[in-house]
Amino acid sequence: MTQRVTFQLQARDGKARRGVIQTPRGEIRTPAFMPVGTAATVKAMLPESVRATGADVLLGNTYHLMLRPTAERIAALGGLHKFMNWERPILTDSGGFQVMSLAELRKLTEKGVTFRSHVDGARHELTPERSMEIQALLGSDIVMSFDECTPYPATEEVAASSMRLSMRWAQRSRDAFGDRPGHALFGIQQGSTFRELREESAQALQQIGFDGYAVGGLAVGEGQEAMFDVLDYAPDMLPEDKPRYLMGVGKPDDIVGAVARGIDMMDCVLPSRSGRTGQVFTHRGVVNIKNARHRDDPRPLDESCTCPACRSYSRAYLHHVFRAGEMISGMLLTWHNLHYYQVLMDGMREAIEAGDFAGFERDFHARRAEGDI
Ligand code: GUN
Ligand code: ZN
Repeated sequence: MTQRVTFQLQARDGKARRGVIQTPRGEIRTPAFMPVGTAATVKAMLPESVRATGADVLLGNTYHLMLRPTAERIAALGGLHKFMNWERPILTDSGGFQVMSLAELRKLTEKGVTFRSHVDGARHELTPERSMEIQALLGSDIVMSFDECTPYPATEEVAASSMRLSMRWAQRSRDAFGDRPGHALFGIQQGSTFRELREESAQALQQIGFDGYAVGGLAVGEGQEAMFDVLDYAPDMLPEDKPRYLMGVGKPDDIVGAVARGIDMMDCVLPSRSGRTGQVFTHRGVVNIKNARHRDDPRPLDESCTCPACRSYSRAYLHHVFRAGEMISGMLLTWHNLHYYQVLMDGMREAIEAGDFAGFERDFHARRAEGDI
């Protein structure tokens, strides 16, 4: 029996949506936050710990895994899920975005991108066809089409030709992906901050037909106000009955604002990366654990948090292990941050079901305005 990936909308409140994506590897409750597991690990976390924070799905990266340990090796070892010991859904990004931000000597043509690995300098090529092949070898449940994330700022001319290249690559991605029951292919809208280009892109993608639609090319330096301006119209251009994924976002307030504007899925390195640099997200805003004011503080990071870092350790201890460069620091702070993000998602899902997303937003902003205690 082959089960298809499906999406059901269960509730709406204003533009905010509550739904569920069904996959053969389990369900994804939306709005969903996807922790980033770039190199076949969410850094500093065991997969069962990531699950314990409430994550339904992880993000993996074509670019990193094709370079090391290679997609062919992962396939020979039984696929990415088995390799990294995460049996639930995995979404993989298609590689173009990471090539442009990490690789050396990049050359972009109609065919695809050639580049030198940031790991060992070896030459590689990524095309829509090769990206689809790699994501199939990995066994990804949600495959992203191959695109170019238009750099910001861009003139309308540059943004238009970049977006149109991505739309031709989207068609080639669709053709190369074929029909793989149980696996989904998402298209990626581009068009920078230009409304007409976002519309043209949305139409082109729907013409091709995808299982879900991402909003790409945001959180690239335009700032929250410009991003929200685009999100005020871009999600509305995409089909109602398919999941909408905002790529690479963001801070907690970006996420709440994106859900308010009709986004269903997000991913960001922020909670995991910040966990390793001592930045902690709480209901009252950001706390920096390396600050000397925590040195003698016996209280937990966040009184209302039930994560292991908050249940069993003081700010003084977390400050100490961070300052001492102990590995448990990254482990505990990453756990807390991922837990915080998932509690945030849970709160939004409940509020949408209850028809009180506006109340949720009000409380969210009011508590942050109070500041850390
Ligand atoms: N991650 C963040 N933004 C983007 C984007 O526009 N495209 C892709 N493929 N990945 C992203
Ligand atoms: Zn906590």
